Amino acid sequence: MDKHKTIFDTTLRDGEQTPGVSLTNDQKLKIARQLDKLGVDVIEAGFPVSSEGEKQNVKAIASEGLSLDVCGLARVLTKDLDACIDCNVDMVHTFVSTSDIQRIHTIKKSREEVLSMAVNAVEHIKDHGAKCMFSAMDATRTDLDYLIEVYEAVEGAGCDIINVPDTVGVMSPSSMYELVRNIDAHVNIPIDVHCHNDFGIAVANSLMAAEAGASQIQCTINGIGERAGNANLAEVVMSLHSIYGAKTNINTEYLLETAKMVESYTGIHMPANTPIVGDNAFAHESGIHTHGVLEKSDTFEPGIMTPEMVGHKRRIVVGKHAGRHAVKKSLEDMGIETNDEQLDEILSQIKDIANKGKRVCDADLHAVASSVLGRNLGSETIVLKEFSVMTGNLITPTAVVRATIGDQEAIASNYGVGPVDATLRAVEEMIGGYTKVKVRDFALEAITGGSDALAEVTISVEDGEGHVSSAQSASTDIATASVDALIAAINLLLDQKKTRGME
Ligand code: KIV
Ligand code: ZN
Repeated sequence: MDKHKTIFDTTLRDGEQTPGVSLTNDQKLKIARQLDKLGVDVIEAGFPVSSEGEKQNVKAIASEGLSLDVCGLARVLTKDLDACIDCNVDMVHTFVSTSDIQRIHTIKKSREEVLSMAVNAVEHIKDHGAKCMFSAMDATRTDLDYLIEVYEAVEGAGCDIINVPDTVGVMSPSSMYELVRNIDAHVNIPIDVHCHNDFGIAVANSLMAAEAGASQIQCTINGIGERAGNANLAEVVMSLHSIYGAKTNINTEYLLETAKMVESYTGIHMPANTPIVGDNAFAHESGIHTHGVLEKSDTFEPGIMTPEMVGHKRRIVVGKHAGRHAVKKSLEDMGIETNDEQLDEILSQIKDIANKGKRVCDADLHAVASSVLGRNLGSETIVLKEFSVMTGNLITPTAVVRATIGDQEAIASNYGVGPVDATLRAVEEMIGGYTKVKVRDFALEAITGGSDALAEVTISVEDGEGHVSSAQSASTDIATASVDALIAAINLLLDQKKTRGME
C-alpha cells in the first residue's frame, strides 16, 4: 500500500442524511472546526443547492479560514454547480448516476446523455477555478466498460480526482480491490472511494480499495450516513496506521473527542462495543484478561493501538467476571487497602450482586468494602438538602437544588430538555465553583412495571483529569433517582481525589 492516504470526511453531508438527524448551522460550524483540528484533508460541508440555509452554512464554513479543503456537493446541473461556486468552496464534488438501474428509473437519461452531462459539469467547475471531484453514482453496479469510459472522459475534461461510490454497499472486499485495480489501470488521476455500510463491511471495502491504489478514502465520524451509514473514520484511519503501516494527516488523539461531539449533536449513540471510540473499546472485566492487562497491557489489547493513541482510557471493570486483580486494583484506585481474606470476601459479595443481574458500579464496590472492612470509608462532601423540579407542556423544565458542600450552603437552578436533564444540570451548576464534573453516562431502567414503576438510574461522572466513578439509585421518581445517583457518584469521585492527595 502507498505510504500516505488522504481523508475526505462527509459527516456534514452524507452523515447528516442519516435518518432523523438534523444539525444546526452552529453545530455544523463546530464540527467543521473539530475536523480541522483532527487533521482531515477535505470536508464535504453540504449540498448548497438544497436550500438557502444550507448554502449560507457551506459559505460560512468555506470562509472560516480552516486548513482543510472545503468541498460542496452538486449534481451535474448548472444551478447546483453555481450554488457551490457561489460558496467559494475549494472543491466541487459533482455526481451523476451511471448504473442502468438508477439511470433508467431515476434520471431517465441515456448513457450518452449522462456522459456528456458529466463532461460539461467538470468543464464548468474547472472554468471557475475550483478543484473538481467527479462521482459515478452507483459505480459498483455500473457496467464496467461504460464506467471506465465515463471516468476517462471526465479525466480528459480536466477532473482532478474521481470517486468510486459503492452507493448501496454491495461490494465484497475482494471485488472492491479488483474494481479499483481495473479503474486505476485506465485513469491517471487520483482515485477516491465512498463505501456504504449496508452489509457492515464499508471499512473493509475501503481498506481493500486503498490497497488496490485508491489514494483518498471517504469516511464519516461514527460511520453515520444514509441507511446503515458510511465507512467509520476512526476505524479506517486506525487500521491504516496500525495494521497497514500507512500514514494520514489525522491527529488520532482527537478521535474520541470528535466521536463524542458528533454523538451528542446527532443523538446517534455509539454502542459500548464500538471499536476504537466506544466505552468498552479498552475496558476489561474478565479475570484472565484484567490480570494480563494489569501485568502488561499488550497481553489482551492490540498493542499496535493503545487507548492513548486515540484519546481514550483503559478501564478495569468490576463485574460478574471480575477476578481478584481487578477488584484489588479498583480498591487501590479508591485508596482502599485490604488483606487477602478481606479481598476474597469483597470479591464474593460483588459476584453475588452481579449474579442477580445487577450492573456493579463503583458505589457498590465502595459500599461492600465499607461493610467488609467494618468502617465507613467515605465522607459525604455533598449532602443534598432539597430539590424541586417543575415541568409541564407550557414551561421549560426547571430544577432548583440546595445542598451543603463541606460546610458551605449551596443553591442553584437550571433548565433542561426534561425534568431529569434540568435536575442534573442544576446539580452541575451548584457544584461548579467547587469541582468540575460532567455526566459521562446515564442509564435508566424500569425495574418494575406500571405507572408506579421503580426506576433505576446508573450514572457515571468524569472529572477534568479523566477520573470516572459510577453510582446507582432507585426510586419511583426518576428525578429523585437521578439526583441521588449523581451526588453519590460525585462524592465518590471527590473521595478518590482526596485519597490521591490532590486537594
Ligand atoms: O452514496 C453515494 O453514491 C453518494 C454520492 C453523492 C457520492 O453519496
Ligand atoms: Zn453516499
